[in-house]
Amino acid sequence: MTDAPRKKTYDELRSARWFAPDNLRAFGHRSRLMQMGYAPADWVGRPVIGILNTWSDLQPCHVHFKQRVEDVKRGVFQAGGFPVELPALSLSESAVKPTTMLYRNMLAMDAEELIRSHPIDGVVLMGGCDKTTPGLLLGATSAGVPAIFMPAGPMLRGNWKGKILGSGSDAWKYWDERRAGNITDADWQAMEGGIARSYGTCMTMGTASTMTAIAEAIGMTLPNASSIPAADANHIRLASDCGRRIVEMVWDDLTPSKIQTREAFENGIAVAMAMGCSTNAIIHLIAQARRAGQDIGLDDFEKASRKVPVIANVRPSGDTYLMEDFFYAGGLPALMNRIREHLHLDCLTVTGKTMGENIEGAEVYNDDVIRTVDTAIYKEGALAVLKGNIAPDGCVIKPSACAPQYLKHTGPALVFDSYPEMKEAIDRDDLDVTADHILILRNAGPQGGPGMPEWGMLPIPKKLVKQGVRDMLRMSDARMSGTSYGACILHVSPESYIGGPLALVRTGDLISVDVDARTINLEISDEEMARRKSAWVAPEPRYHRGYGWMFSRHIKQANEGCDFDFLETTFGAPVGEPDI
Ligand code: FES
Ligand code: MG
Repeated sequence: MTDAPRKKTYDELRSARWFAPDNLRAFGHRSRLMQMGYAPADWVGRPVIGILNTWSDLQPCHVHFKQRVEDVKRGVFQAGGFPVELPALSLSESAVKPTTMLYRNMLAMDAEELIRSHPIDGVVLMGGCDKTTPGLLLGATSAGVPAIFMPAGPMLRGNWKGKILGSGSDAWKYWDERRAGNITDADWQAMEGGIARSYGTCMTMGTASTMTAIAEAIGMTLPNASSIPAADANHIRLASDCGRRIVEMVWDDLTPSKIQTREAFENGIAVAMAMGCSTNAIIHLIAQARRAGQDIGLDDFEKASRKVPVIANVRPSGDTYLMEDFFYAGGLPALMNRIREHLHLDCLTVTGKTMGENIEGAEVYNDDVIRTVDTAIYKEGALAVLKGNIAPDGCVIKPSACAPQYLKHTGPALVFDSYPEMKEAIDRDDLDVTADHILILRNAGPQGGPGMPEWGMLPIPKKLVKQGVRDMLRMSDARMSGTSYGACILHVSPESYIGGPLALVRTGDLISVDVDARTINLEISDEEMARRKSAWVAPEPRYHRGYGWMFSRHIKQANEGCDFDFLETTFGAPVGEPDI
């Protein structure tokens, strides 16, 4: 058991600095609350709980947040708090172009400054669609007030002609069938209406399910919060539970810094591996850990990857089940119980209890969905970090989701310098390509993309699709969607746009990949590499004004988490409290 914390007094709350003093400023703050119809009974003695809501009319994964926020408020009221909803950047994965990753840090800044500038004592973070989870958590971590993350929950299983459809994964799969001429237009349209059947996040093990699971594993959500389907009444109760709990967290001063220790992030990594996580997890977890002052890097993923098996049989690493099945099988606490020996059970969580206490007795109800270590769907972790002369700072592959013959392979490169160039060529019948080739897309990294778009699962050339090829090696400095699969080597660092060695590859060069040895090399001499390097010309800057200009100057590389340099804890002196 953890020691009972000392309760804060009302005078010690941040919000009391706005509302309690007998001075002109506080008169202004109070009179403006009264303008909205509130009376002193609404705020005196009560923590102000900010509810950061990433709802929008173009955010299908969070569309229920418009109602759910009322359930969060209900919980806050019941526990004696004063709830206030603060809209935050919505970052709809499906609608925002060129990529939400360009804006993750913008949401992080939005969240941090919303909290800092307002009279907020604690926050409920309502997110779940891909970048919203790390965005909100990065911001709340830097702001430092007590915070609880409330995941949107996965949507229901997709359904088409009685077949289960999984977000993303099945769209890619059937798109290839359609390109091969095996799917009719009518079937394709029926799939459009069947693949996303309710509000909530992608229900495959994409970035959303990965990041919410990590948030839970780190201790920033209530137990099992990440698995509850969005459309389940349990999700409504989760919302009011979050509201009740955050008020207690404020009195207990249970801040993210007490929860987000190095051990907590190691739990996040172990769970990510056991879930067969999205490759995006690496970037976000590194960024979040660094905001919390913990030095987590690619090596930590590599270590966990060698130890922790994939036991969540959820697509795309698994072949059958989806997040709804995972919830019915016991959800994340049950999975965590199965990998207890890989976890630090004494880490503190938002419940005020340890992770070990939270998951005690959590049972698995379906051993095919949540496997045992002995029946794991993949014996080693979901991700492998490769290094070599073409990726000196590392790159990532998801061996659990690729055809085994590509785990050790040497083949000639076929290079594309941009996405449009690749798109134009890939369906040509005269494209000089075989299944042995390694397709390369460059200028798709943090600065080159910009924002590392999810282009990393390059389409298989149509000519090969028709021959029955469904996987081949692909390599880029881009990311790929967590719902994607295949032999895709991603996040090559440093990126080609800033002159990383990927920029020096030529079509026909041989590249050797050995996942077991964790190596990737361009088979040219060091002298030739140096010659090409000195002849390389930097591309024109993409932006001359605006957010993109700032982004280009301050974005860090993928292996460092793609945070802005000026947001890292080590950059300059800490930001103080606002003058009130
Ligand atoms: Fe929102 Fe996939 S599009 S989680
Ligand atoms: Mg995604």
